[in-house]
Amino acid sequence: MSLHLLHQFPRLELLGAPTPLEHLPRLSDYLGRDIFIKRDDVTPVALGGNKLRKLEFLAADALRQGADVLLTAGAIQSNHVRQTAAVAARLGLKCVALLENPIGTTAENYLSNGNRLLLDLMDVETEMVAALDNPPQQLSDYAERLEAQGYRPYIVPVGGSNALGALGYVECAQEIAHQSEGVVDFAAVVVASGSAGTHAGLAVGLEQLLPESELVGVTVSRSVAAQLPVVERLRSALAEQLELKPQAAITLWDEYYAPRYGEPSEEGMEAVRLLARLEGIMLDPVYTGKAMAGLIDGISQKRFRREGPLLFVHTGGAPALFAYHPSV
Ligand SMILES: Cc1ncc(COP(=O)(O)O)c(C=O)c1O
Repeated sequence: MSLHLLHQFPRLELLGAPTPLEHLPRLSDYLGRDIFIKRDDVTPVALGGNKLRKLEFLAADALRQGADVLLTAGAIQSNHVRQTAAVAARLGLKCVALLENPIGTTAENYLSNGNRLLLDLMDVETEMVAALDNPPQQLSDYAERLEAQGYRPYIVPVGGSNALGALGYVECAQEIAHQSEGVVDFAAVVVASGSAGTHAGLAVGLEQLLPESELVGVTVSRSVAAQLPVVERLRSALAEQLELKPQAAITLWDEYYAPRYGEPSEEGMEAVRLLARLEGIMLDPVYTGKAMAGLIDGISQKRFRREGPLLFVHTGGAPALFAYHPSV
C-alpha cells in the first residue's frame, strides 16, 4: 500500500496493458545465468520505448493546463522526441523540438534516417541548436517565442525526466513486482541511466516492492560522480510526491558508456548483435546496447551482489539502428 499515492496523479491511459516480462532462454544458456527482460521497447506508440510511461503523466498535465503544443528537446536521434511527437499527434497537439547533434556527425543516415525520419512523418517543427547546454533555459526561451505567436506550449523536459514523468517508472516497478511474484526472485534489475527518470522511478518503486533486488543503472552519458546527483535529486523529488523516504544506495556503473553519449562502442554493438542473433530482440547503439554490455560484463566480473536471475529493462531505441547504419 505504500505506493498508494501514485493513483492520485492524473494520467492518460496510453500504455493500455502491462508490457511483457519474458525469460530469454537462449541468452541465459549462452551467459550461464537466467536472464529475463521487461519489454518496454514494445510500448504501443510509434515503435515503442520508455518515454510513453512518463508521457502518460506529462501529457495529462499538458491537457489540464490547456496546452496546444508539446515543446521538448533532445538529440537528432532522440527516442524521447519521437515518442513525445507521437503522443502530441494522438492528442491533436502541435509538437516542437529543439535538436542537437551531440556527436557532430555528417553521416547522412544520422541526419535524416531512424528517429529523425519519423519526426518528419509526424510533422514535428524542429529547430537545430548548436548544443543543448542549458535545456531548461533554451526551452523556456523557445516557449516565449511560441507564446508570442499565440500558442500555449507545454514544456516536456529532456527525456521526460522530472518528478511527474518519473512516476511512470514507479508504475513499471509495480508491474515487475506483480509479474515476478511467486515466479522468479531477481538478484538484480539492470537499466540504462541517462536523464534518469527511468532509473529514479524504478529506484523508488523497487525499494518498496522488491527491496532484495539490487537495481543497477548503467550510465550512457556521464561518470558516476556526475550521474549520482542527477539520480539522487530526481529520486528525492519523486519520493516526496509519494510521501516516501528512500534509503537504498544508488548503484551506478559507468564503465560502459565510452567513447561518449551517442557514440557506439564495440562492446555495446556486440551486445546488440548477440540479442538479435540469439533472441530476435533489437537493442540500440546508444542506450540498451551499452546497458546490456554492462549486464554481460557484470556477470563475468562478478559485479552483482547476489547469485540468481537478472532482469534487463529494455527501454527501446531500435529505430536508431537505422541512423547508425552502416558505420556500426
Ligand atoms: C532507448 C532509451 N533507453 C534508455 C533511455 C534513458 O532513460 P532516462 O532518460 O529515463 O534515463 C532513453 C532516454 O532517452 C532511451 O531513449
